[in-house]
Amino acid sequence: MQEIIEKIKDIEEKLEEEIGKADIDKIEVIKTRFLGRKRGEITLLLKQLPGLPPEEKPKIGRLLNDLKKKAEKLIEERRKSLERKRAEYKIDVTFPGEKPLTGKIHPLTQTIRQIKEIFIGLGFEVVTGPEIETEYYNFEALNIPEFHPARDEQDSFYIDFKSGYLLRTQTSPVQIRVMEKSLPPIRIISPGLCYRRDAIDASHFPVFHQVEGLAVDKDITFSDLKGCLTYFAKEMFGEDTKLRFRPSYFPFTEPSAEVDISCIMCKGSGCKVCSGKGWLEILGCGMVDPEVFKNVGYDPEKYQGFAFGMGVERICMLKYGIDDIRLFFQNDLRFLKQF
Ligand code: DAH
Repeated sequence: MQEIIEKIKDIEEKLEEEIGKADIDKIEVIKTRFLGRKRGEITLLLKQLPGLPPEEKPKIGRLLNDLKKKAEKLIEERRKSLERKRAEYKIDVTFPGEKPLTGKIHPLTQTIRQIKEIFIGLGFEVVTGPEIETEYYNFEALNIPEFHPARDEQDSFYIDFKSGYLLRTQTSPVQIRVMEKSLPPIRIISPGLCYRRDAIDASHFPVFHQVEGLAVDKDITFSDLKGCLTYFAKEMFGEDTKLRFRPSYFPFTEPSAEVDISCIMCKGSGCKVCSGKGWLEILGCGMVDPEVFKNVGYDPEKYQGFAFGMGVERICMLKYGIDDIRLFFQNDLRFLKQF
């Protein structure tokens, strides 16, 4: 008998102590601990009642019932008082504010937007194409037949080798898709992701962005191409930027050229960024090859056109002096916050 009375006192003390320091989230936990229907400490004692000697039952029964009522009362009172306090909580307008963290637009998105704006200003329309392409659009229609060395240079991710579906290695297939669907005059640019099985280093990443450009009309000449890209480069890198068109080769353009700009760091005198050359390559371009026109059913005698393709990561790296392409894809806020 004495033992059970001690236990009741013990529980009463613990209850008072726990409830005194409980916050609102703890109330339910305390209630379960003492009054839970299966394993509540008070409940368990009440369950022992029928097994006690008959002369002890009335006293212990009363003590336990009082304890149960007390527990219920304390718990409810505490809950109410905490809820009242919470309702009374007022905003302290003198409390110093916390500066919210504002997001920034990713530097690559900013660069794509800027490229779009420049070409839209020149009358180009922005179009997109699928990232999963067929070999026909990604290679053949662009005059890159099977076994052409350009296929090795653009080592591809095949979705399914048999059916020839692959992740596009360039945005040039959009040229074909646009010409198949419409007649000249055409002026489009097409930004988007490209994929190549490149080993990752400071200047290569297996996923990257390109912007493709295409203009087709009657009487388009290489001068139009030069004028258009010169305007673009000066808008992008500054009015004092000089351009150099170097003869090059692409299967889908003839003649082809690569465009260099005067080094943005040293302005052409030679430094680490341009490896002492004074020039930085920014894109590839050329006059659309008659073979490509034939593939889309255009008469190469009637129409001419120019095309170009640039790597967005490269443009962005040059513009902001970023020396590692991996930074774009690591989502490190210390990097991203700077733009
Ligand atoms: N697609 C080429 C590449 O990924 C870039 C390119 C070069 C696109 C010349 C063109 C072009 O349209 O005329 O390397």
